Amino acid sequence: MPTPLTASLSRLWQAVLARLGEIAADHPDAVLASSMGVEDTLLIHALAQLPQPLGVFMLDTGRLHAETIAMVDVIRERYGIVVQRMHPDPAAVQAHVAAHGEFAFYESVALRKECCGIRKVEPLRRALAGHTAWITGQRREQSVTRTELPEFQWDETFGLWKFNPLAAWTSEDVWAVIRALDIPYNPLHDRGYPSIGCEPCTRAVRPGEDARAGRWWWEQRDSRECGLHASNLADRRPLVRPRRAGDPAYPDSVESSLSS
Ligand code: ADX
Ligand code: SF4
Repeated sequence: MPTPLTASLSRLWQAVLARLGEIAADHPDAVLASSMGVEDTLLIHALAQLPQPLGVFMLDTGRLHAETIAMVDVIRERYGIVVQRMHPDPAAVQAHVAAHGEFAFYESVALRKECCGIRKVEPLRRALAGHTAWITGQRREQSVTRTELPEFQWDETFGLWKFNPLAAWTSEDVWAVIRALDIPYNPLHDRGYPSIGCEPCTRAVRPGEDARAGRWWWEQRDSRECGLHASNLADRRPLVRPRRAGDPAYPDSVESSLSS
């Protein structure tokens, strides 16, 4: 059952609702990328409060846990939101598996990134095509690759605005709001998975390990991004404010402000 939020959590929550409201007003075509991790179901709960509906999609790589896929039904039943499942190109998957096998990702970072490219990045490119903004559940605390994560950024890889409204949230903040508002979450979180990705590339973490220790655990920490968030590994670019009504068209204006 929902319980009242403490004053500080209530402020945090209201700020996220207001931020999502601004994003929806400025970018009515904005879409939320949901891995069905706890941050994303929290954002879905927030989106469900908005007067303007925003789209939600999941990159269904073909290697997700059954529990993660089952969350699509949980979200539909609870909020009436139909999460769009983006699938990889079957021919590309088939060719990769034929050439390198079903578990090539364990062999090298290059093959792992090739698999992520086929199963995640190319479907993401399709999911974002024609949109002016996307929203993620990334937080700074999650990884050494995310310590400088801004609340919004121009996503040079995919050519649209990217909003990370939970950037400053701690794991404790997320879980306190989830519990207080009775927000549904992926049951894998209760089985030692603080961060949830594809089944063969994610393991439960041991007490004391960091939240992403179970993601691509056989690799060095600083390579553990899959291409969805390429800017986390790139040099920081100057931060420019999100487009608002009346601004000149972009991306040209943005490109020139970034290169000046
Ligand atoms: S990942 O790049 O390492 O996989 P992570 O699991 O931390 O990312 O999730 C960070 C954010 O990326 C999520 O909050 C979500 O917005 C997006 N994301 C990650 N995986 C997916 C997915 N399978 N489908 C849609 N969005 C995803
Ligand atoms: Fe492939 Fe693993 Fe990347 Fe999923 S996380 S797309 S299975 S390499």
